[in-house]
Amino acid sequence: MKVPLKSILVITPDAAVSQAIGTALGGDPALKVDTKSSSLTQLNGQAVKFAQEHDFIIFDTDPGNEADLRAIEDLAKNRREGTILLALASSDISLAEARKLTRAGVDEVLPYPITGAELTEQLERLGARAVPDTRRGSGRIGRVIAVAQARGGSGATTVALNLADALTGKGGLLHKADKHTVALVDFDLQFGTIGTALDLEEQDSMLKLAQDGTVPDLRFLEQSMTKFTGGLSVLPAPSKFAPVDALRNDQVATIIDLLRQTNDYVVVDLPRALVSWVEPVIEEADELLIVTDLAVPSVRHARRLMDFFKTVNIGLPMTVVLNREHRPLIRSSVHKEAAAALDSKLEFWLPLDDKAARAAVDQGKPLTAVAGRSPLTKAIGHLAKAITKALPAAARVEASR
Ligand SMILES: Nc1ncnc2c1ncn2[C@@H]1O[C@H](COP(=O)(O)OP(=O)(O)OP(=O)(O)O)[C@@H](O)[C@H]1O
Ligand SMILES: [Mg+2]
Repeated sequence: MKVPLKSILVITPDAAVSQAIGTALGGDPALKVDTKSSSLTQLNGQAVKFAQEHDFIIFDTDPGNEADLRAIEDLAKNRREGTILLALASSDISLAEARKLTRAGVDEVLPYPITGAELTEQLERLGARAVPDTRRGSGRIGRVIAVAQARGGSGATTVALNLADALTGKGGLLHKADKHTVALVDFDLQFGTIGTALDLEEQDSMLKLAQDGTVPDLRFLEQSMTKFTGGLSVLPAPSKFAPVDALRNDQVATIIDLLRQTNDYVVVDLPRALVSWVEPVIEEADELLIVTDLAVPSVRHARRLMDFFKTVNIGLPMTVVLNREHRPLIRSSVHKEAAAALDSKLEFWLPLDDKAARAAVDQGKPLTAVAGRSPLTKAIGHLAKAITKALPAAARVEASR
């Protein structure tokens, strides 16, 4: 069988780096590897020309260097459709730095040094995403937003559910033209409450998957999900007990993959336990939200979680959402310490709003349906708006090309 040839350009002034990558990928007949011994900035506008000619561009970079970031933005803007940008960075890169790179347009930040096996695996994974044969038809590659909690009860489910609802754009919280299809997945396998919070009939598709061990297809998922008018569909957690390790990585990866083919956004409520099948979600995620409060144990746990998620997906942008906390007019030392510990500007604050939260739970509806103008609803709308700005729906990206 003839394997399609993929072309890779390695841009680095460091001969040791290009040699290591050449050795790592050498011998693979499906890859054509070119190297440019230069830095991104030294290439000036020329890098853009190369971006038109290669499937992958791998470069080493210093996220602290503004000129490098500008060069990456330029490259990302002018690349041909499907070209993937991979930045090599030392494995002790901070979250803020990794985020700068992904914001500039890098598709994946890879730790350097990297083994040949790891590099090939990443190229295969990203290459599969770059040539989305099955997705071309639908024209969608939905954005995956995973939601984690710093402690039990911190409000992760409230955020996941109401963010998913707000992302549809039907509650008037987004720009008028922004109407999206959104899938909400309750992967809190044992304690998931989204089904109850939306007053859904009990159904156990996720339990069936766990018991049968089958890999779901689109038809199975469509039959398992409840669709609301306005663009939201929901895959609830089982209503009966399932062991937390009952799902396999490939089943979870397929669920996420299928949903991103058919939706603009996929919002995932993660389980508290860091079981192995959480990894495919983190690998596929475009954004991770950590819901926490400012109490010291919560902040510490949030930090530990962020460090763990970084080991799974080094370039994953993470956003801290402070729940039950009013945005302060002037930041105290507590706020400053939390910002430093979490390596975050602390941009998103959701106020304590018992009235609205209670009404939503009691009526089994999202906040927009029961308290559209409440402070909590508005704050989640603000978060949704920021997410649509940072991660525009694929249809919108296509339109602006
Ligand atoms: N900002 C808020 N103001 C008032 N009540 C809130 C707020 N956020 C969440 N709640 C309420 O707190 C309770 C716990 O919230 P939620 O279920 O979203 O947390 P969680 O982190 O998902 O918890 P669990 O550990 O059970 O998964 C719910 O009753 C919810 O309505
Ligand atoms: Mg929850």
